[in-house]
Order: sequence, then C-alpha cells, then structure tokens
Amino acid sequence: MPHLLHIDSSPRNDRSHTRRLTADFVRTWRESHPNGTVTYRDIGRNPLPHVTEEWIAAAFAQPDERSQAMLDALQLSDVLVDEILEADSIVAGIPFYNFGMPSGFKAYIIKLCV
Ligand SMILES: Cc1cc2nc3c(=O)[nH]c(=O)nc-3n(C[C@H](O)[C@H](O)[C@H](O)COP(=O)(O)O)c2cc1C
Repeated sequence: MPHLLHIDSSPRNDRSHTRRLTADFVRTWRESHPNGTVTYRDIGRNPLPHVTEEWIAAAFAQPDERSQAMLDALQLSDVLVDEILEADSIVAGIPFYNFGMPSGFKAYIIKLCV
C-alpha cells in the first residue's frame, strides 16, 4: 500500500502558501492512490525541540553503549526516522526564510541524523 509522508513547516496557518501547496499535492495524491495512507507531521505549528547537549551525546554514542537516558533523548528521533523509512513518497512545505530554511525545519533535519 503506497504511503505518503506530509510535512508542513510554516508557522502560519490559513495564510500559508506552502501549506496550501502541500494540501493540493496530498489531495491529488489521494485521488491517484485511493488505497494509499498518509502520515502528517506539522513542524510549523508543533515545533520540535532544538538540539541539546544530551541529544548530541546520545546521537554520537555507539548504539550498544547508549544508556537508558540516551535512548530516551533519542526517542523522538527514532519516531521521525521511522516516519521517513515507512514513506514511499514525501511532500514537504518549507518556507524560504533569510535565504534558507526555517530554523524549525533545520531542527527536524538534525533530529534525523542519528
Ligand atoms: C522571517 C521571514 C524571512 C523571509 N526570508 C525570505 C527570503 O530570504 N527570500 C524570499 O524570497 N522570501 C523570504 N520570505 C518570504 C517567505 O518565503 C514567504 O512569505 C512564504 O510565503 C512563506 O511561506 P508560508 O506562506 O508557507 O508561510 C521570508 C518571510 C519571513 C516571514
């Protein structure tokens, strides 16, 4: 069964152009994949925590040397990585802020790097 990961990262809601574009994409995708499923991740309205010292120590530790506290620090990263691995397709709405991606989307990318 095809699976789509739908990500929005604009802090704006009804006035967001990128949200409108991803919503249009998902509507079209659902029409052409009637048996498909969609996971939604809203980084803009539900920001992820930024990187902490604890997260960095956990991410750089050898997997078999991670303490329970380190595993806890990486729990959200595990969820995010699973969402990526389960997806056949990904659509992401990413506003252009100061010649780059918003800090919230950058935090998302970093959280995937475990
Ligand atoms: C803080 C901020 C910085 C921005 N920086 C840029 C920029 O460097 N270049 C650009 O073309 N547009 C820039 N924009 C315009 C946004 O890309 C534009 O408003 C876009 O529609 C935002 O996405 P959204 O409508 O989904 O919120 C910026 C907007 C904001 C709020």
